[in-house]
Amino acid sequence: MKATRVLAEDHKVIERGLGLLEQVVGAMDDGEIPARDYLDQLVRFFKDFVDEYHHAQEEQIFFPLLESHGFPRHREPADGMLREHERCRVLFGEMVDQVSKLTKEDGAAAAFTALARQYLTVLREHMFKEDNLFYQYADEVLNADERSSITRAFLDKEEVILGHGGRGIYSDLIGDLERQLFGVKLTVAGR
Ligand SMILES: [Fe+2]
Ligand SMILES: [Fe+2]
Repeated sequence: MKATRVLAEDHKVIERGLGLLEQVVGAMDDGEIPARDYLDQLVRFFKDFVDEYHHAQEEQIFFPLLESHGFPRHREPADGMLREHERCRVLFGEMVDQVSKLTKEDGAAAAFTALARQYLTVLREHMFKEDNLFYQYADEVLNADERSSITRAFLDKEEVILGHGGRGIYSDLIGDLERQLFGVKLTVAGR
């Protein structure tokens, strides 16, 4: 199994979350303010799944292991990846501030969409670099023991950070938010 399979799968779920954020930005550009409950659930996804879980897995397990294979943590290019995590944290914190002002202050929607556009760009470019450079490199250089130990560490940490149900809870949350946004009725094969 590839050492980075879990991280690459996370990216697919994160991209679905970014797709939803993009739809929210489009709606706001058209003058709509999505329901607060909807925005709160999307915020929960980016806070819990992207920042506290996925980025933490990379910072605490993935990049330290890469360090022993020629990517010093505090030098480019690994250093740049950690700074992009921090940039995402700052942008996201500012977005959350604007969410609380959306129905109270003129200009909050415009401020939110400007921040969200930056967040979308930074996180998408970041994940592209990881998928096409760092994850591929790791899969080439890590030996079998390292691959299985990193996978085990990811899974252990997943349960600690996200609790019982782990990543599945968040892909279900994204599925639920997609159905709410697009009004898609899922049909079960064979029924
Ligand atoms: Fe990352
Ligand atoms: Fe990542």
